[in-house]
Amino acid sequence: MTPEKLIEQAKKAMSHAYAPYSGYKVGAALLCADGTVYGGCNIENASYSPTNCAERTAFFKAVYDGHRDFQAIAIVGGKNGALTGAFPPCGVCRQVMREFCRDDFVIYMGGPGESYQSMTLAELLPCSFSASEHMN
Ligand code: THU
Repeated sequence: MTPEKLIEQAKKAMSHAYAPYSGYKVGAALLCADGTVYGGCNIENASYSPTNCAERTAFFKAVYDGHRDFQAIAIVGGKNGALTGAFPPCGVCRQVMREFCRDDFVIYMGGPGESYQSMTLAELLPCSFSASEHMN
């Protein structure tokens, strides 16, 4: 699966965003080791804090279906769905990635047109807390 194709899936997922409060529509496409792709969107709430990010929606769907091995995630988002720049994952989502992914898990952050930035989980979440390192 190319980064471009995964970003395309994230754009499709963004169309499902429920964001009546912030107006920020976000989509994610999570690539599992077996090639399965899970889409996710942000789902907001009138009480704000129960809001779920697009990335976590994708992860939780995949984990529920039995997936534990992941290769990459593409993320796109912007005000009213307009992609004006790369959309980096929030800290909570980075920590959820840490739970299931190795250092070389790749995060593609899609921007305007065909542009995107790519970083590894190790780059986005250095010196992280994870079960494998801290709970033995
Ligand atoms: N959001 C995501 O979906 N993913 C992130 O990594 C950062 C933020 C959503 C949550 C909220 O619905 C909106 O973007 C504005 O914060």
